Amino acid sequence: MARYCFGLATTFHDPALAIVGPDGEVRYAEAAERYRQDKRATNAEPDHIFRTAELIETYCEPDAEFVVGRTWGAGSARLPAWMGLASRFGLLEPGMIARLPDGGVAKLLLFRPYQIHHLTLCVRSSHLKPGANLALTLRQTWGNRKLSFLDFDHHLTHAATACYTSPFSEAACLVVDGIGDHGSVAAYTYRDGTVTPLAHHRGSESLGALYMLVTDLCGFSIFKGEEWKVMGLAAYGRRDADLYRDLSSMVRAVGLGLCYAPMRRIRAIVRALETRRRGPDRSPLAAADLAHTWQIVFSEVMDALLARLYVATGAENLVLSGGCALNSSYGGQILDRTPFKRLHIPSAPGDDGNALGAAWLAHRHFHPEWRPRVQTHTPYLGSSMAGETLERLFRIGRVPRLRHLPGEVHRKAAEALASGAIVGWVQGRAEFGPRALGNRSILADPRDPAMKDRINALVKFREEYRPFAPAILDRHGGEYFENYQESPYMERTLRFRKEVVDRVPAVVHVDGTGRLQTVKREWNERFYELIAAFHGLTGIPLVLNTSFNIMGKPIIHSVEDALGLFYTTGMDVLVIEDYLLEK
Ligand SMILES: [Fe+2]
Repeated sequence: MARYCFGLATTFHDPALAIVGPDGEVRYAEAAERYRQDKRATNAEPDHIFRTAELIETYCEPDAEFVVGRTWGAGSARLPAWMGLASRFGLLEPGMIARLPDGGVAKLLLFRPYQIHHLTLCVRSSHLKPGANLALTLRQTWGNRKLSFLDFDHHLTHAATACYTSPFSEAACLVVDGIGDHGSVAAYTYRDGTVTPLAHHRGSESLGALYMLVTDLCGFSIFKGEEWKVMGLAAYGRRDADLYRDLSSMVRAVGLGLCYAPMRRIRAIVRALETRRRGPDRSPLAAADLAHTWQIVFSEVMDALLARLYVATGAENLVLSGGCALNSSYGGQILDRTPFKRLHIPSAPGDDGNALGAAWLAHRHFHPEWRPRVQTHTPYLGSSMAGETLERLFRIGRVPRLRHLPGEVHRKAAEALASGAIVGWVQGRAEFGPRALGNRSILADPRDPAMKDRINALVKFREEYRPFAPAILDRHGGEYFENYQESPYMERTLRFRKEVVDRVPAVVHVDGTGRLQTVKREWNERFYELIAAFHGLTGIPLVLNTSFNIMGKPIIHSVEDALGLFYTTGMDVLVIEDYLLEK
């Protein structure tokens, strides 16, 4: 009987669902925030009750056997109870690092007791719900009771997502995040489909938790996951000697794990750092030195961990995952700073990505002989736009200036870009992971120095200090970037060559870098054709690529979402599949 493996990412933030078919191929993977149009979908179940029925009908045989892989080990369900008890008895306070059974409470470093209480409720509810909607849907709609559950170690699911999507058959793998089942760092070796634990740090020390501390001090929201704003801001700052002394003495790498300074020293440092907190009435640039100095400390600790991983494994291929792998500034420097020769960071290294790893681990549980294909795995695994909605829009939507242009829509879009238009570009299946990679993107001409401010003011409504990314044809990468490396998922930030900076000012960050996406025909043909057409018109082989959303909202999910954004912003042209709409 056919067996479908569902992966449910069950952290209380960024829940997600993935489906692996009986052949081990990915049928679908998407974060819950997209369907819900609720950024990060905090505290939501990954298996939305209506959506799950649609997914079963679209991607599975409803009378098959179903297995659910979840992204936390069985023991993690005890964690909320410990946290709840500790907060009730006043055992936890800001600036404290608690070492409780099951580890896992490093984030308390920043949290107030009422926040801990809230967090406890969130974690508890996310451990109770996952899979309940899927079970109900299967039984109620199809009378199917053939459903079973497997719980996997949190870091193992990060590692599986990363290793199974990598272009390697052998690699060393490091996972670094806020917290897993036992700690915040885990190392693995990978060979031919087998992910083997090498070292698992046990304890509450956490680079991810310190990242949250710095995010909070910079005046950004840790609950909204704004650590990436700290990274963008770092380019505007300078190394501050006092901050460096304090931040670097808080944490250091020990073996393949982390060690904090003694508790008394940590508390003194946290008090000192509090004096550098950015108040709500000050510009984010006031926190730039803190962001910059933290980026240095973060990179140095990561260097030390990776150097030890190299010695321990002797591998030349590195696979990196966990929330800390979203730091593309560091990602772009890894091959220069460490002995590794090749690097893979998946399109979804954060907790949403774990849905895919859990689904694959469940599949491999029943098929130990299964091997993933050794390839740069496609990130286009999410939802498609509803064809009937598009057809209806064309037929009865009464929208002027809407054209159906099969075979030439990429050329028309390139002409619009070259004439200065801001273009919404929607094609095929949505990207799995936080970055738009040419299927749910807003695009613009990178030659115009005013374009960045225009998009911020008219379309994205976001802070002026944040950079926009370039999507570049692979064969031109070396012309534009120093030490060019392929970056298929916008996972690396590289330095532009000095001689090209004036050609593409809209995508050059203040420190001369760009978080690039490499585009190859075999990875995304339509996006490739569009950029190639733009290159033919302008001589520039790259476009500005930013995600199709506005600040505070997730990337669009439906035709209706796309039209809503098109008509309520300064976007000039909208392309959905073969349809082109102009204002
Ligand atoms: Fe994680």
